[in-house]
Amino acid sequence: MSPYAHIAGWGMYVPARVLTNQDLERMVDTSDEWIRARTGIVERRIAGEKESTSTMAVEAARRALARANLSPRQLDAIIVATISPDYLTPATACLVRAALGADRAAAFDVSAGCSGFLYALSLAQMGIAAGEWRCVLIIGAETLSRFVNWEDRSTCVLFGDGAGALVLVASEEPGGVLACVLGADGSGAELLSIPAGGSRMPAAPETLSQRAHTIQMDGRAVYRFATHILPEAVEQVMRKAGLPLSAVDMIVPHQANMRIIEAARKKLGLPEEAFFVNLYRYGNTSAASIPIALCEIADHELINDGSIVVLVGFGAGLTWGAAAVRWGVPLPQPARPWYQRAFYLGRAVLHRLPAFLRKLLYRLWQWLPSRGGEE
Ligand code: ACO
Repeated sequence: MSPYAHIAGWGMYVPARVLTNQDLERMVDTSDEWIRARTGIVERRIAGEKESTSTMAVEAARRALARANLSPRQLDAIIVATISPDYLTPATACLVRAALGADRAAAFDVSAGCSGFLYALSLAQMGIAAGEWRCVLIIGAETLSRFVNWEDRSTCVLFGDGAGALVLVASEEPGGVLACVLGADGSGAELLSIPAGGSRMPAAPETLSQRAHTIQMDGRAVYRFATHILPEAVEQVMRKAGLPLSAVDMIVPHQANMRIIEAARKKLGLPEEAFFVNLYRYGNTSAASIPIALCEIADHELINDGSIVVLVGFGAGLTWGAAAVRWGVPLPQPARPWYQRAFYLGRAVLHRLPAFLRKLLYRLWQWLPSRGGEE
C-alpha cells in the first residue's frame, strides 16, 4: 500500500508594507472604484528593500516546520513554486535549503505560473506515494512587485507579494492529498509572460526601455480561460478522488479576481460560503495565493478534521491544476530528547564551521592589503 501525503504544518508570510487602491490612484490613472468592481482587490503587500522571494519563503517555511514540530534536517525535499525567483539560477529552493539548514533535502523550483503551487503539491504527493520521500516542504513564494510595470494600470493594480508553505509527511493512515490534476496549454503562452531576461530576449538597454522585463498580459483572454478551466478542474479532481461534488466543504481558488471566482462558483452551483476569498487584502500573489489562503483557513479553523478541501488554480503557461485534500489533524511528531537535539545542533555547527572559517579568512585576506595601502 502506498503511503499517503498528509499536511502536517502550514505557514505564511506577507511583507509589512501595504499598498492600497488609494495609493495606486496617485500612481496611475485608476480608481478605487474600478479596481474593486473589476477585481475585488482593496490592498496588496509589497516586499521591503531587503526582502526577496527566498527570504519570504524561508519565513513561511519556518512557521510551517514549527507548526509540524519538525526540524529542517528531517526534510527529504524542498520545492519552491515561483515565477519571480531570486535568480534565474540557482533555484530559490536551494537558497531556502541553505537558510533553513535542511542538510538532507533535495531542492528545486517549479515554474507553472499561478498554478505552480499545485504542481509542487502534486510532485510532493507523488514522491511520498512512491516511497521516495517521507517529509517534503512545498512553498509558493512571489515578489511580483519587482516584475510589474508600475506605469501600466492594466496590470499594476492586480499583483502583490508574499509566501505560503506546507509540510507534507508520509503516513499509512488514509487521507491527506486524495487526488491531483494538472494541465497545460502552451498555445496560450503569449497571453501572460515576462518576455525579456531569458535566452530568447536577453537583457539589453532596449529591453529595459521597452519595459519588456515586466508582466505583459492579455487580461480578457486570461479571464475567459480562467472562468472555463476553474470549474472543470474542480469537477475533474473530485471525480479522480472518487467523491461527488456535494462532498466539498471548502474550495480554495487561486486569488486572481473576484469575478472569476464568482463565475466558477455559479457554474458549479455551489453556495458562496464554499469558496474562500482573501484577495481583497493581498491581490494576486500568483503561486503564493493558494497556500496563503489555506493558511488563513487553517489558522481560523474554518475547516475541521475530515473536511474535503479543493485547491484549484490557473496561470501563465497557460497552466491549471487542482488538488482534493482530506484535512486532518497534523500527525503527532515524537518530541526528541535533549541529547538528540544537542547532537543535531552540534552537527549543524560543525557542518558550517569550515565554510564560515573560509569566509572569515577570505575577508581578512581582502582587508589586510587595503589596510596596508591606506597606511
Ligand atoms: N483602472 C481604470 N481603468 C482600467 C484599468 C485600471 N486599473 N485597467 C484597465 N482599464 C480600462 C481599460 O483601458 C479599458 O478601457 P477602454 O474600454 O476604454 O479600452 C477598460 O478599463 C476595460 O478593460 P478590460 O481589460 O476589458 O477590463 P476587464 O473587465 O477585462 O478587467 C482584468 C481587466 C481585471 C485584468 C481582467 O481581465 C482579469 O482579471 N483578467 C484575468 C487576469 C488574471 O487573472 N491574471 C492572472 C493570471 S495568474 C498568473 O499566472 C500571474
